[in-house]
Amino acid sequence: MTIIITGGAGFIGSAVVRQMIDETGETVVNLDKLTYAGNLESLGAARDDPRHVFEQTDICDGEAVARVFIRHRPRAVMHLAAESHVDRSIDGPADFIETNIVGTCTLLEAARKYWDGLEGAERGAFRFHHVSTDEVYGTLGAEGLFTEETPYSPNSPYSASKASSDHLVRAWHETYGLPVVITNCSNNYGPYQFPEKLIPVLILKALAGEKLPIYGKGENVRDWLYVEDHAAALRLVLEKGRVGETYNVGGRTERTNIDVARAVCSILDELLPDSPHRPHENLITFVADRPGHDLRYAIDSSKIERELGWSQKESFESGLKRTVAWYLENRIWWQRILSGDYQVERIGLGKEAAS
Ligand SMILES: NC(=O)c1ccc[n+]([C@@H]2O[C@H](COP(=O)([O-])OP(=O)(O)OC[C@H]3O[C@@H](n4cnc5c(N)ncnc54)[C@H](O)[C@@H]3O)[C@@H](O)[C@H]2O)c1
Repeated sequence: MTIIITGGAGFIGSAVVRQMIDETGETVVNLDKLTYAGNLESLGAARDDPRHVFEQTDICDGEAVARVFIRHRPRAVMHLAAESHVDRSIDGPADFIETNIVGTCTLLEAARKYWDGLEGAERGAFRFHHVSTDEVYGTLGAEGLFTEETPYSPNSPYSASKASSDHLVRAWHETYGLPVVITNCSNNYGPYQFPEKLIPVLILKALAGEKLPIYGKGENVRDWLYVEDHAAALRLVLEKGRVGETYNVGGRTERTNIDVARAVCSILDELLPDSPHRPHENLITFVADRPGHDLRYAIDSSKIERELGWSQKESFESGLKRTVAWYLENRIWWQRILSGDYQVERIGLGKEAAS
């Protein structure tokens, strides 16, 4: 059987592809445009597996996407391709509208036309799984959790574009009967995360002895989930999730950003006893807050736990240690990214990124 995974060269998509190749007999069609965030080196050994087929395709290109459906005849689509970085969405929202909204609509139309042509058991078993974020729910105060019933209230261009895409997917189910499932997940961390997200930024800057920028006072709270646990949850929802339903996925691991920074520093102190930058915590510095910075996200994941039996395997402490160790042991992966035209620079102040 064959599954199309969009965004399979990205951080979370590559984890799903690696698990699918390692743990199932499925053929995976990896449909990815390879933007700045896509990297086939993140696939490891799965990249050259005969059951991994790479299609360099833009989800906004309807004809090309339709050809991929006809060529591979998938039993399901897992849709992860997106512009995913909040700071980039503040500096340049247009790409987010294009890929996350127009691209999702284009993909939905291609999936619907393909599904319309299926019959019998094949048609009944087809699934369109849309992968989204808890940021669509907006921000929480000190109390409470996001449930699947929490009203949408997105605050950044990124979260607004993801909210729009969730609504489109839901509408394609209600209007056309397309068999969809939706997941909304909290902040992921782990190996192969692009080096502009919080945890890789902290690790790489600390290694270089540079200041570790923390927005505002570092009091913003995120609910962290190890990427392999998220990938396992996605596979479970694809197989067992009820059609038309949303499942929230979270780690029950609320941490302030300053706590995350201190934890990364103390792991580095332990793993690098000879580092001239110890104690790494002295590198922490507070910088101007992100505009519209949501205070707190926290997920109630009891529905997926209760209905589908999912639970996370990795604690934040063990997962963070594995992640820091991975960045220390896989310098070639991130050095190749950094040696290109990408720099770990401050973005997301609503101005064009510095050249
Ligand atoms: N990272 C998180 O913490 C997190 C949390 C919850 C949900 N999500 C969602 O999960 C999905 C994956 O996130 P990620 O962190 O792996 O993102 P990522 O930025 O690491 O990867 C995105 C991938 O999509 C590809 N892509 C971008 N535009 C495309 C286009 N027009 N056509 C085809 N491919 C395109 C990129 O090349 C890249 O490989 C996204 O939909 C994101 O909104 C992410």
